[in-house]
Amino acid sequence: MQPAAPYPTRTTPHFQVRDVDFAYPDGQPVFRGLNLAAHAGEFLVLLGPSGCGKTTLLNLLAGFMQPDRGHVCLASAAVQPENPALGYVFQSPQLFPWLNALDNVRFGLRMAGHHDAAEQRERALHYLALVGLADAAGRLPHQLSGGMQQRVALARTLALEPTVLLMDEPFAALDAITRMKLNEETLRLWSLLKQTVIFITHDIDEAVFLADRVVVLAPAPGGIRSELNIDLPRQRSQATRRLAQFAEYRNTLTECIAGLQPAACSAP
Ligand SMILES: Nc1ncnc2c1ncn2[C@@H]1O[C@H](COP(=O)(O)OP(=O)(O)OP(=O)(O)O)[C@@H](O)[C@H]1O
Ligand SMILES: [Mg+2]
Repeated sequence: MQPAAPYPTRTTPHFQVRDVDFAYPDGQPVFRGLNLAAHAGEFLVLLGPSGCGKTTLLNLLAGFMQPDRGHVCLASAAVQPENPALGYVFQSPQLFPWLNALDNVRFGLRMAGHHDAAEQRERALHYLALVGLADAAGRLPHQLSGGMQQRVALARTLALEPTVLLMDEPFAALDAITRMKLNEETLRLWSLLKQTVIFITHDIDEAVFLADRVVVLAPAPGGIRSELNIDLPRQRSQATRRLAQFAEYRNTLTECIAGLQPAACSAP
């Protein structure tokens, strides 16, 4: 486990958070002097206890909120809300119950300015097929399982063809088997579409399975406590979870999380 470096040095940063302070108007500081970078095509996982600021950080990255001090940049420009390069997948699918899967995906495209109905349909069907729902396009949300609904939500975001995917505990509400399947599906799509992914989870196994790098956040306003490169072979599968190296990463992260006491809340 390495102490957090201000900026990783592997390649040109795609996302950069520089010296960010942030507090909600009626709250305590969430971040003080936060620095983080993600590289183009990197799968970065944010791990940390409840309330440490993971969602807040994702919202800052999305440009939904502005830092009190410092900068959040994407490809060297300040992030803007509604940037078409950014796709956001929420913890719950948030589908319109009266629209079938196809029309839920088409709705996202229409909102993003894709008004040609034939193109909407073609693109929506393409992404529904990519998430394994080609046969479910005509079904309403209540006719889909939770995992299928979450895949529709994923297709809705992917259909916008964002270069950056921000995912806030997207599979937290799912059973373990569905979650493992969606983890594999997420990696398959990521290797196909070559996006930069920032993925939040509480689940250490999920973090190790998915990540190129795991960043651990300390209780607010502790910021980044440490980070760990996950050098497991790509083309990860269920067999990956049985590797001795996987268990080592899991143990390292478990110890790190267990050591995050409120008393240790200083920035590194
Ligand atoms: N809208 C808000 N107004 C005021 N304080 C907020 C608001 N949203 C979050 N907070 C506070 O900011 C801190 C960070 O919250 P955040 O939602 O980012 O945590 P989190 O790490 O995503 O937690 P969880 O794992 O439970 O989702 C918490 O102390 C929370 O109470
Ligand atoms: Mg959260």
